[in-house]
Amino acid sequence: MRKISLILISLFAITLFMTSCGGGSQSAGEQTAVKATGPYADLPADVQAMMPRGEEIFKTKCVVCHQATGLGIENVFPPLSKADYLLADKVRAVAQTLNGSKLDMTVNGKVYTQEMVPQVDTKEDAVAVINYVLNNLGNKDGFVTLAEVQGVEIKPRKK
Ligand code: HEC
Repeated sequence: MRKISLILISLFAITLFMTSCGGGSQSAGEQTAVKATGPYADLPADVQAMMPRGEEIFKTKCVVCHQATGLGIENVFPPLSKADYLLADKVRAVAQTLNGSKLDMTVNGKVYTQEMVPQVDTKEDAVAVINYVLNNLGNKDGFVTLAEVQGVEIKPRKK
């Protein structure tokens, strides 16, 4: 019994010692300077906040054609991963996600002629999924804001 209480007392002393040291070295200023971590840490807070929604849309809709990797299917579905066409114009990418696209386009040197129908109904959703794409699938290419797509018109849907 005496041994156990001795051990307990020394444990208590060690704990006291450690907490007092830890507390002393961490001032309030240092604590507020701690930066957010994670894959989106460098993005503005409002862009970070839309990532879960963007991920949900990507994984439920876009993967069917553009594939989970974002690599697409050559000459059928263009890539969203490291895609020169996408990166050349982020606002255009938002507009295409919103209104669809029926063009002859060249993406990373391959030609695509199939139609993509509109994928989402709101600019918020289109911006969220494009921001997810820009920061996943091997991409690390910044972001697009709702303000930047203000001029994009939501075309009437085909019935
Ligand atoms: C049913 C298949 C299909 C689905 C689902 C689909 N796309 Fe597409 N996507 C295409 C096709 C086909 C093209 C090429 C359109 C063209 O040639 O005009 C394309 C082109 C694009 C482009 C422009 C080309 C590029 O590589 O940058 C973007 C951006 C894009 N899609 C984003 C999305 C996003 C985001 C989603 C999910 C919300 C999505 N797509 C869902 C088939 C699809």
